[in-house]
Amino acid sequence: MKAVVLYDTAYGNTRTIAESVASGLGQGAAAVPVEGFDTETLRPGDLLVVGSPINGWKPTARITEMLADLGRRRLTGVKAAAFDTRVKLFIHGDAAGKITRALEAAGAGIMGEPMAFYVKGSEGPLMDGEAERAAAWAAGLAASLGNGTV
Ligand SMILES: Cc1cc2nc3c(=O)[nH]c(=O)nc-3n(C[C@H](O)[C@H](O)[C@H](O)COP(=O)(O)O)c2cc1C
Repeated sequence: MKAVVLYDTAYGNTRTIAESVASGLGQGAAAVPVEGFDTETLRPGDLLVVGSPINGWKPTARITEMLADLGRRRLTGVKAAAFDTRVKLFIHGDAAGKITRALEAAGAGIMGEPMAFYVKGSEGPLMDGEAERAAAWAAGLAASLGNGTV
């Protein structure tokens, strides 16, 4: 079983969160940029976490393209979760929910609710404590895998 945290980023904040998620997951999980990652290498039993900045109320073009490539039911047996990074606005749109729905449509087993992490401005930095919150969220995902609740 492998655990991959696929991310896209413009200013590095989503990479920082992806790296925290990988460290919280443990067990050799790796944070990997979405460009160049071959989703054909995913196998039943693997864990896939996908993270994107919100860009114009949706995931980035590279994440959207990767999700479109997955095709229907390509991820059967793969466990998956999604997060986004966003600014704290009254209306900010959503990327993690859209990613979650695409992963589900591709056949993945979804672990928990889509998660949001916050930056102070478009270029960051992350709001205080968000990297730690990401690691704790990931540790929760790993625990639910370990005790068979997903
Ligand atoms: C072109 C563009 C569009 C954006 N649109 C949104 C948006 O719709 N909602 C939101 O909350 N943040 C939006 N943001 C802020 C990004 O979410 C923020 O830049 C991102 O979280 C930073 O992550 P990164 O450092 O990984 O690129 C936008 C940023 C850019 C550059």
